[in-house]
Amino acid sequence: MKNKKSNLKNKTILVTGSAGFIGFHLSKRLLEEGVKIIGLDNFNNYYDPQLKESRNKILEKFDNFKLYRGDLTDLNFVKKIFQENKIDKVCHLAAQAGVRYSLINPYAYIQSNLVGFHHIIDEAKNAGIKDFIYASSSSVYGNNKKVPFSVDDRIDHPISLYAATKKSNELLAHTYHHLYDMNCTGLRFFTVYGPYGRPDMALFLFTKAILENQPIKVFNFGKMERDFTYIDDIIDGVVSSLEYSYPYEIFNLGNNQPVKLEDFIQHIENELNQKAQKEYLPIQPGDVPKTFADITSSKEKLNYQPTTPIKKGINKFMNWYKDYYKI
Ligand SMILES: NC(=O)c1ccc[n+]([C@@H]2O[C@H](COP(=O)([O-])OP(=O)(O)OC[C@H]3O[C@@H](n4cnc5c(N)ncnc54)[C@H](O)[C@@H]3O)[C@@H](O)[C@H]2O)c1
Repeated sequence: MKNKKSNLKNKTILVTGSAGFIGFHLSKRLLEEGVKIIGLDNFNNYYDPQLKESRNKILEKFDNFKLYRGDLTDLNFVKKIFQENKIDKVCHLAAQAGVRYSLINPYAYIQSNLVGFHHIIDEAKNAGIKDFIYASSSSVYGNNKKVPFSVDDRIDHPISLYAATKKSNELLAHTYHHLYDMNCTGLRFFTVYGPYGRPDMALFLFTKAILENQPIKVFNFGKMERDFTYIDDIIDGVVSSLEYSYPYEIFNLGNNQPVKLEDFIQHIENELNQKAQKEYLPIQPGDVPKTFADITSSKEKLNYQPTTPIKKGINKFMNWYKDYYKI
């Protein structure tokens, strides 16, 4: 984590998805610096809402935090937040996340990621807010063969509805930048992990299953690679994006060091001192076999430099997991 404080101290920032994994860590980091955070979340049950409540409880301890509990798709609710607060910048992280679930419940993605996204960016525009940072995803690269994935690569062939909504967000942001002179930065996150991480993602699923002596699902028969990126490194990148507020940018926030799925499992086994029972399965529709971020422009323009090796990051996650679930 950077020791340097950001230049955001006297700002008021709307963080949507503040009870989510990344929104919680971002809000906490900024609250500790004295930044005023307006949080927005609907605490939906895509995964255990209790985990969202636990994160939110930590944020509620800060006097400079104010939560709005409600849904992005409720336009009056969104309008009210902008009317009641003098917001300087928006960091829009709330979304229906997850690739696989987009095949099960496509409606949730259209509602939260398209309708909801538009409500936030349009109301930000109406309120005269210039700086708009939002979450995109490494999934926009689809089945691109050239690695590492560069922000200059074409991304015209999304292979999941989730990816299609994230690419759409980038298009909408460009339009708002062009028409209304808003500063819009999209952040393509690469498989974020760490304490308070998401229960639907591999590290959490594998840890839970191994500890409960249940089999883990190893997709693509183990031939997957992910550019796992530790949450503190991601937050450094998000904070820099909020500080710089470029007119229009897309950045990759990844670790630039893909890890083979079998090696990832091995690290977890070593950490838990317990072997996994592996169930090998084909690749899931919508999933990509490999992600790998080219972070050249993020380094140049955001001073972004991930520093957490996978072993250390997994160790930090395990310490949190065992403490939180009293294992
Ligand atoms: N975690 C990752 O590895 C990763 C990778 C790529 C992109 N992203 C993107 O980053 C952002 C944050 O992801 P995360 O991992 O923190 O996910 P998360 O699911 O933990 O957080 C999202 C939060 O948004 C809230 N939310 C969802 N729909 C809402 C709605 N309609 N109204 C109000 N609140 C709503 C949820 O309750 C949740 O707390 C998302 O946009 C996600 O798509 C995450």
